[in-house]
Amino acid sequence: MAHEKLNVVVAGAGAMGTGIAQVALLNNCRVVVYDSYDAALQKSEQKLFTDLHKLSEKGKITAEVVEQCKKNISFSNSLNSVTGAGLFIEAIIEDLQTKQNLFTDVERMVDDNCILATNTSSLSVISIGANCKKQDRVVGLHFFNPAAIMPLVEIVPSLNTSQAVVEKCKLVIDSFKKIAVIAKDTPGFIVNRIARPYYGEAIRIYEEGVANFATIDWAMKEKGGFKMGPFELMDFIGNDINYKVTETVFEQMFYDQRYKPSQTQKRLYEGKLFGRKTGKGYFNYADGATMPEPLKNDKTAEKICNRILCMLINESADALLLNIATKEDIDLAMTKGVNYPKGLLKWCDEIGAANVLATLTELFEWYGEDRYRPSPLLKTMAKQKATFY
Ligand SMILES: NC(=O)c1ccc[n+]([C@@H]2O[C@H](COP(=O)([O-])OP(=O)(O)OC[C@H]3O[C@@H](n4cnc5c(N)ncnc54)[C@H](O)[C@@H]3O)[C@@H](O)[C@H]2O)c1
Repeated sequence: MAHEKLNVVVAGAGAMGTGIAQVALLNNCRVVVYDSYDAALQKSEQKLFTDLHKLSEKGKITAEVVEQCKKNISFSNSLNSVTGAGLFIEAIIEDLQTKQNLFTDVERMVDDNCILATNTSSLSVISIGANCKKQDRVVGLHFFNPAAIMPLVEIVPSLNTSQAVVEKCKLVIDSFKKIAVIAKDTPGFIVNRIARPYYGEAIRIYEEGVANFATIDWAMKEKGGFKMGPFELMDFIGNDINYKVTETVFEQMFYDQRYKPSQTQKRLYEGKLFGRKTGKGYFNYADGATMPEPLKNDKTAEKICNRILCMLINESADALLLNIATKEDIDLAMTKGVNYPKGLLKWCDEIGAANVLATLTELFEWYGEDRYRPSPLLKTMAKQKATFY
């Protein structure tokens, strides 16, 4: 156990902040949820208590635990509430300036040994802490949505973060009963970087008229064993969030064509066709609407699945080459962060690096686009007939 009773302050009472607060609360922490908007605090309190009662009704926690949790949590619109925090986790809006201001304000009010963590999805950790005096205690703790359920947390040290802080974070994440991986402070960290082709290549295949949304979704589930197809998943995540992550990763990768967003999704974003939450995205979710049937052709499905899978494997190989994370953490992150049926590097070993390379080379030569550029690591692996494990 990392702590007796750790004082955790979560800033931002939105979807992520509320979920993170629940996790800390259920794992022996005292928690303060801070937000500058009262309405957000009220909504967060309601959601958190409703969820705790649901857990109790299902027999997952006792009524006493619910009462204890209620005693151990408070909601505040005053920044003074951060005083006494041992761990501060920021989950406010994704805006650099706003996050930087909050970090410098908070730093003035907490002890020197309080860890200052950000849950940012797409900003650099070092830039968020850039104005802090003690930058060795600033770190990324990237939870996945919904935070109460998803087991993965990416720990993202910046160039200034101390190893001691990383070690403490590992202990805290263990005590939260979550799975920690360590990711380099680079755009998209592990999961949001490697997963890009699952969406982008699927849209490209649709744009080329190879297959419709339902058929591509079916192909990935049937042939790849993925739990959700790319289009139903984008509609579930929200095309606003998914598009913005793609756009940010693309910009921050200095416009590397491999991460280029698609016009199709941009239009959905512009038209507020966000998916489930707005009732329409790639599919129609209105009452009485029926989901389209896929065209079940085995050969086409295998081709689609192989193309997307090889693009994903290429991303993981490149992430390994560039030391974004260890091979174990890369595979763990994709299975625990986005529920992939297998680690992509392990999957590459099964398919054979030479076969993956052949698919990518064919695409690269046919299209002449940098998007399909094979990772040098895959080339080495294929040449040496090597495996990752
Ligand atoms: N939603 C996701 O899928 C997801 C997943 C992982 C990480 N994240 C990251 O988590 C963070 C929060 O995302 P979210 O989806 O929970 O957002 P959200 O919009 O649901 O909640 C943000 C909250 O921050 C509050 N807020 C805004 N400015 C503030 C300030 N200056 N001080 C205090 N409170 C302020 C708002 O009132 C709101 O309640 C973002 O950095 C996002 O990138 C989101």
